Amino acid sequence: MFDIQVSNSSSIDSVDFENIAFGQVFSDHLFVMDYDDGKWQKGRIQPFGPLTLNPATMALHYGQAIFEGMKAYRQPDGGVSMFRPGDNIQRFNISAVRMCMPEVPEDIFMQALVELIQLDKAWVPNNENSSLYIRPFLFATDSHVGVRPSHSYRFVIFTCPVAKYYDKPVKVKVEFDYTRAAVGGTGAAKAAGNYAGSLYPTKLANDQGYDQLLWTDAKSHTCIEECGTMNAAFVVNGQMIVPATSDTVLAGITRDSAIKLAQDLGIDVVSRTVQVAELEKAAKNGTLNEAFGLGTAATVSLMSTIGFKEWDFELPDPATWTIAHQIKDALDSVRLGRSEDTHGWNIPV
Ligand code: COI
Repeated sequence: MFDIQVSNSSSIDSVDFENIAFGQVFSDHLFVMDYDDGKWQKGRIQPFGPLTLNPATMALHYGQAIFEGMKAYRQPDGGVSMFRPGDNIQRFNISAVRMCMPEVPEDIFMQALVELIQLDKAWVPNNENSSLYIRPFLFATDSHVGVRPSHSYRFVIFTCPVAKYYDKPVKVKVEFDYTRAAVGGTGAAKAAGNYAGSLYPTKLANDQGYDQLLWTDAKSHTCIEECGTMNAAFVVNGQMIVPATSDTVLAGITRDSAIKLAQDLGIDVVSRTVQVAELEKAAKNGTLNEAFGLGTAATVSLMSTIGFKEWDFELPDPATWTIAHQIKDALDSVRLGRSEDTHGWNIPV
């Protein structure tokens, strides 16, 4: 289906799979497919390497660029499975529509994933807390000055072996001034610009000693939306509470998996609007038991501190937590093929 040019050298022997820094080590091949003359051209797999771009490439100027993050895991029999790739493909195409870009046909997208990962199968780590991170992205390639949708696009997938995104619980600060996403905006799309816009407020929080922001709604800054590059979840009085998705909150696949696994485990879980005030009240009266982020890169990342306007709340010792650990264990077990995949989430390559 695709043209394949196999790399005549591999850098795999230089990789220390026991100490992988997130997002800095890349597998040998990537997939490229161009959209020209109103249609997708034949895709190709080629050695990983730089892309050459015209300086007027529209994505660089007007930000017409989207991406996805997904993972593949080594299975007990030595095989490899992708986790919920169909859901990522669907979300990718939802982002494409929002950003006025052509959708990638689902069957071609899936075949590209399978062939690329088959070729670089040796790059899928075989140890606890590690996986192959898959980064599909799409960007506008017309060389043109002036704001309009591009006519041509490039779709690329590369992969990288990864370990943990955060190596310790994160200190988060509730953001009351800056905004990640506004109603009617692009917050529910995985648009590159959403991440660019978050950098400055995150840097200000970093300067104050926090790792990440707990984003609130743009209009009133009274409701919790996301946590840095993750969805957020809280446990108050034993109930797991996950901020509802909307056009300002990304519909996280890890978020959805965590909710479904919580239901399977008989955990009391609800997805709804979460007020900063109720969270602060729970922090003050000792009923805010756990807080964690849910994301593909970050998986289940515990929060150590929540910075409110006037004070910092230190979460209880994670050794006393139950729900976040149960969710993480259940998620890991399914992805690593150690428990029954009752939801049909693992897709072998
Ligand atoms: C992911 O969780 O895969 C993300 O997209 C976050 C990323 C910006 C590292």
